[in-house]
Amino acid sequence: MANTPKLFFITTPIYYVNDKPHIGHAYTTIAADVLARLYRQSGKDVFFLTGTDEHGAKIAAAARKAGQAPQDFVDELAPTYQKAWEDLDVAYDGFIRTTNHEHEQIVKELVQKLNAAGYLEKRTYEGLYCEGCERFLKRDELVDGKCPDHHSVPTPSSEENYFFLLSKFADRLREKIEKNELIIEPRARRNEILGKIKQGLEDVSVSRAGAGWGIPFPGDDQQTIYVWVDALLNYYTATRIFDTEDWEKHPADIHLMAKDILWFHAVIWPAMLMALELPLTQKIFAHGFFTIDGKKMSKSVGNVIDPTKMVEKYGADAVRYALLREFPFGEDGDFSEKILQQRYERDLADGLGNLMQRVLVMINKYQVKVQYHPIEIELTLQKEVEKLNFELALRVIWEGVHRGNTIIAQRKPWELAQKDTKECAKVLCSLYDLLIAINKQIEPFMPQTAKKMRDQLTTLKPEPLFPRL
Ligand code: MSP
Repeated sequence: MANTPKLFFITTPIYYVNDKPHIGHAYTTIAADVLARLYRQSGKDVFFLTGTDEHGAKIAAAARKAGQAPQDFVDELAPTYQKAWEDLDVAYDGFIRTTNHEHEQIVKELVQKLNAAGYLEKRTYEGLYCEGCERFLKRDELVDGKCPDHHSVPTPSSEENYFFLLSKFADRLREKIEKNELIIEPRARRNEILGKIKQGLEDVSVSRAGAGWGIPFPGDDQQTIYVWVDALLNYYTATRIFDTEDWEKHPADIHLMAKDILWFHAVIWPAMLMALELPLTQKIFAHGFFTIDGKKMSKSVGNVIDPTKMVEKYGADAVRYALLREFPFGEDGDFSEKILQQRYERDLADGLGNLMQRVLVMINKYQVKVQYHPIEIELTLQKEVEKLNFELALRVIWEGVHRGNTIIAQRKPWELAQKDTKECAKVLCSLYDLLIAINKQIEPFMPQTAKKMRDQLTTLKPEPLFPRL
């Protein structure tokens, strides 16, 4: 049977545009880009979707604070995300904005469909709303009466809302997850979700009262569609807006996000899809959350890292490398500019940059004949990246870098050149081959460096890959 390339459809969350992008948003987006590039490298068609979440109370409040109309406010902020991804060499295929007219139309259409299918019900609801989370919190989630994530007191609200009958989907959802028809990773997070589903699911409010900053609820101008419903549907609306394969035939292969929003993706979104009789996303992966110098990133602490500033100082590839190298993708970790700087100096400048420079200089000096020859990336390494084991993959690649530098120190080609020119050539040829392999391996992670390496391996003219800071 012919091996026709199949589409690989990967997504990041769509980020709230209440502020500029930070390094936390960059983390997920870079991870998605590495995966997308890996699949493209192995000949697959990729649809890599990212974008911005532009409705809701949180954005409206930020616009108010800035003294701007919400639409003007989001129109100014959305491009800062596109710019950041460009700076970081993120090659997305689709960038969706939820204020896009087509998106709004399709969302209305789908909400109507949910209603027609009997999955929506109007009820009076009393609850505590956290604007930061854009959701109602339960009393037992509060710490000292405050939202544990946003450290703010949630607003008591009593209003008439439309409810999505999530409770009806508990059994079917549990079955899908248990049968691995819906894959949730890492395993521990899957089990957590399963545990919660087994305790039963409560229906969720899918509208807010009043004509707030959001999509008007179809058939009821006193209500606005809940921002999370609007946002989750982007994964579907994008397939129509960007005219890629139909979701019906090809739902998303993987949604990437951090653990903070796993519940929405692993429970509410699949239940919505079931209610709409649409196929489910294949896999949902919730990575960890990182702190900066041990503290949660926040404006008030003043530790928010701007990815663009880091790119200006260290280059896109160093930021990409350091973020994915520092701790395993599924786990929580810590990050800081200091970590980035050390990774730059040790792993990149002293490690890879030095190896490349020394090998090319000696190949020239001892007039060793080498010929560039393309190679395939090792299957085992490719599998690790596909499993999102970025840290492991980079560690393995850098073992190669260290091996190369150790061979130079031990075999001393400059001494061999004096007594055994054949052996000297042999050692340098094997180092050259090692560099070709490393070049291929780093391609999805560090596209600019890979290109520079590739050029230098053919021209044999060494230029520093990572200049001293
Ligand atoms: N708009 C919603 C998502 C809707 S998706 C249908 C949202 N936006 S957000 O701007 O708050 O982005 C949250 C996401 O940003 C996390 O799930 C994660 O992907 C990324 N991160 C933000 N801060 C992060 C860290 N400190 N560490 C790791 N990831 C981080 O939620």
